[in-house]
Amino acid sequence: MKRISVITAALLAALSVSAQKLPMREYVDNLMSKMTLDEKIGQLNLLPGGDVTTGAVMNSPLAQLAAEGKLGAVLNFKGQDKVRELQAVAVKKSRLGIPLLIGLDVIHGNQTVFPIPLAQSCSWDLAAIEEGARIAAKEATAQGINWVYSPMVDISVEPRWGRVAEGAGEDPYLGSRVAEALVRGYQGNYGKENAMACVKHFALYGAAEAGRDYNTVDMSRVRMFNQYLPPYKAAADAGAGSFMSSFNVVDGIPATCNRWLLTDLLRDRWSYDGFVVTDYGSIGEACIHGLGDLSTTSELAIKAGTDMDMCSKAFIDKLRGLVESGRVGMDDIDRACRRVLEAKYKLGLFADPYRFCEPKRLKTDLYTEEHRMAAREMAAKTFVLLKNEETSFGGRRESQCSPVLPLKKQGKIALIGPLADNRTNMVGCWSTADTPELYSTLKEAMERAVGDKAQVAFAQGCNIYADEATQNGASFGRHIPRVDDAQAKAEALRVAADADVIVCAMGEMAEMSGESSSRTDLTLPDVQMALLKDLVATGKPVVLLNFSGRPTIMSWEAENVTAIMNVWFGGSETGDAICDVLFGEKSPSGRLTMTMPKTLGQIPIYYNHLNTGRPVPAGTPVFRKYQSNYIDERNEPLYPFGYGLSYTTFEYGKPQLSGTTMQADGKITLTVNVKNTGNYDADEVVQLYIRDVAATISRPVKELKGFERISLKAGESRDVTFDINVDMLKFYNSDLQYVAEPGDFEVMVGANSRDVQTLKFTLQ
Ligand code: BGC
Repeated sequence: MKRISVITAALLAALSVSAQKLPMREYVDNLMSKMTLDEKIGQLNLLPGGDVTTGAVMNSPLAQLAAEGKLGAVLNFKGQDKVRELQAVAVKKSRLGIPLLIGLDVIHGNQTVFPIPLAQSCSWDLAAIEEGARIAAKEATAQGINWVYSPMVDISVEPRWGRVAEGAGEDPYLGSRVAEALVRGYQGNYGKENAMACVKHFALYGAAEAGRDYNTVDMSRVRMFNQYLPPYKAAADAGAGSFMSSFNVVDGIPATCNRWLLTDLLRDRWSYDGFVVTDYGSIGEACIHGLGDLSTTSELAIKAGTDMDMCSKAFIDKLRGLVESGRVGMDDIDRACRRVLEAKYKLGLFADPYRFCEPKRLKTDLYTEEHRMAAREMAAKTFVLLKNEETSFGGRRESQCSPVLPLKKQGKIALIGPLADNRTNMVGCWSTADTPELYSTLKEAMERAVGDKAQVAFAQGCNIYADEATQNGASFGRHIPRVDDAQAKAEALRVAADADVIVCAMGEMAEMSGESSSRTDLTLPDVQMALLKDLVATGKPVVLLNFSGRPTIMSWEAENVTAIMNVWFGGSETGDAICDVLFGEKSPSGRLTMTMPKTLGQIPIYYNHLNTGRPVPAGTPVFRKYQSNYIDERNEPLYPFGYGLSYTTFEYGKPQLSGTTMQADGKITLTVNVKNTGNYDADEVVQLYIRDVAATISRPVKELKGFERISLKAGESRDVTFDINVDMLKFYNSDLQYVAEPGDFEVMVGANSRDVQTLKFTLQ
């Protein structure tokens, strides 16, 4: 009997290979006509493989479930052999031989690790971002993965929230362009080297109150549509194969059970046709949110438009009963099952379930020289130079004062800090790479970069936090060695004493940002700050390389340190990439995509805010009574959105507009000349902002509407042009209609959101 069913399965599998020649709809219709209710429900079940832990540990008998047709997909499952084996069970042993989706959090690269997404967005280089995703998909698919849980497109203005590390920052326009680039990069044309993208976390997860992970979200529809939803929509329009619902509530209803969100908006308004998976265990969590028992939340979720249950074992356990009792209709089950099967069809899994299990690709496609170069190039583009003061140190005479960076490869460089000699930490959150021992530490890279031209003297100097419990609370698995803080500091000061320049590698360790890593204090942790102060007190030039997964607060540093470069978490090639920039092979070209606050009390702080009725008049030197400000701090951030320095200087000419009136079906063009007036070849990010001066709702003081990253040789200049059309003037009004309203507009161009030149035009 058993043998017969194996043969039947093999026959069916063979049939399905030829059947994939049918168009998707027909193919899926055909398959579904053979499926029992249990088999359909089985397709909606996603369970973890346990190779990476991203939620509650579950030990499920995956092979048995696959054989019984009770498993549609697995996640956190690693190893091509293991994937092939499990896929073989699903295909050969289950009655209908339906292959599995194999998912993994491939968030910023795979074996070759690219910078964290927040850092990538600071490159403003969409082609490089797309290429990074293409490489990530190539490496992932070489190992059997066919579904990646990226892009994460949650807009956030909350640096306390650790997950800002995973997104593209605060801006809906840039966030949308990045989202599209990532979807294109991962999915391509669904070839053998492409994986299906999963857009997350739908929706509004980045607006968790007080920046505390998983916390309540509550916002107006107008804000939602104008500020938070655009990147999700852009990713849907770019054809992303799947969406993941978020943990938070939207209008009081957990996203996974929110019919308005998953059906009215996503399906009916946006015409999205991929499938929706929950986040880890979120049907179960809906019970804890207070929506009822697991049967109730399962019913709500499937009716809301959730198609696949990640790790709640809710659909698999509850849907049959719900159908039998009439609470859930077959149409809901069929709809969800169809979408999951269509995803498998798009990936070509019916034609070849082992499509992503080619053994030879393990040798040719992982951590290759080409991939590493791409990661290194990209990392160098993400570093944001925040300050670079002149100094006369380093053997230069007083009269030869020049900015401390780039460093000369000469003399003695003291490299100090708990992040300078650690190889696994630099990849940041969400790395699932297997071979971090292959990466260089910053110390190793620096020694290599200077060769025998300079001396690199290293001292760890301190722990991440003085308190071991705090440090280890943030650290699971990538420990920075604990040292005696007093002794380590004494050693660091000895090393610094006869150095020409001090380079500090300090900041957050990887686990201090990412999921479940919210912070209430964003300054440099205690012992690191104490050491930094002592190093500054030596009077020598101090370069701070600030590692972080979020904007941190560096007001003291901005006053006192000679140079600051935010290096985020740059991925596997961080060490070399930092040296490329530090020693001047490349000029820094990263520009902030989240505002850097001066103090915690300013949060949330973002550039595209509304004007209020009482804005502080420009140029006001101090606090003003009855204006929208604080008595103890100015409104301005430490560093604005779009900000970043270079080793060269750029001069913007007077911008010109092709006209001062625009017809609804026309366009006008802004042209600005940008000149590299310094001594280094470098890249600049030219930014275009627009303000709708008078409209039916209050509109932001400015909104990014275009940008161009350009390369200019020293002395070179170029005209940069932006075409402005009516679509760039549209917004969602209070009836949530997407409209452009006639009237006056300001258009601004400049090197960041603060330093702009403004022109005006009228939309007729
Ligand atoms: C995270 C998701 C992730 C999922 C699967 C969840 O905890 O919120 O971003 O994709 O786990 O690992």
